[in-house]
Amino acid sequence: MELIPAAVEAFSEKYTSPESGVLYNLNRETHLKVELPHMLSGHVQGQFLRMISYMIRPRRILELGTFTGYSAICLAAGLTDDGVLHTADVNEELETLCRQYFEEAGYSDKIKMHIGKATDIIAQLDEEFDLIFIDADKAGYVHYYDQVWEKLKPGGFILADNVLYHGQVVLPESEQGSQAKAMIRFCEKVLADDRAEQVLLTIRDGVLMIRKK
Ligand SMILES: C[S@@+](CC[C@H](N)C(=O)[O-])C[C@H]1O[C@@H](n2cnc3c(N)ncnc32)[C@H](O)[C@@H]1O
Repeated sequence: MELIPAAVEAFSEKYTSPESGVLYNLNRETHLKVELPHMLSGHVQGQFLRMISYMIRPRRILELGTFTGYSAICLAAGLTDDGVLHTADVNEELETLCRQYFEEAGYSDKIKMHIGKATDIIAQLDEEFDLIFIDADKAGYVHYYDQVWEKLKPGGFILADNVLYHGQVVLPESEQGSQAKAMIRFCEKVLADDRAEQVLLTIRDGVLMIRKK
């Protein structure tokens, strides 16, 4: 299902600040060489993540689901001078590419890349986060939400990607895949949580923005 008409997406891209040279090259290389390149956040969502990071000025960011590092580079932009972004992914094959681009973007000291299952990496990190971006396996979101909650500062934010899951979330249940069902379970969980307030943004594949009260 096309969530945003192509002409509207093109208009949105036209009036969004252009990608930096590093992000443009990373986007291109991902599309040329990596399987499932559509997983990359891309121009407009990437710029959105960058702006959110500049608004919050986080000292600690956690990202679950690095892929080729596009969103990590966008989110790292707003870090404080002593800020650090931890990012986790199970796919060790992309580590070299990520590290190359983190270096080119000037963030090799600020982005700490962890290879392993998100749940194991979260458990290992003794940090309090200002901003958490959940973008790993969709079936894990409900668990990640519970697991990161105590590590999120009061007033801190979680951004969860793909909550519209290509529009499948609004199809009859019999036509929804398991990932879309997982996104609905996650959104229901957050909706029922009095400790949180949230807004579901229809950017790209849907981003649920959650604030810890
Ligand atoms: C949608 S992609 C992330 C895209 C990236 N955040 C971006 O916007 O450019 C999802 C990533 O989650 C990773 N992943 C899947 N299951 C995982 C798990 N259990 N723990 C950590 N990462 C996982 C995949 O290897 C994949 O690279």
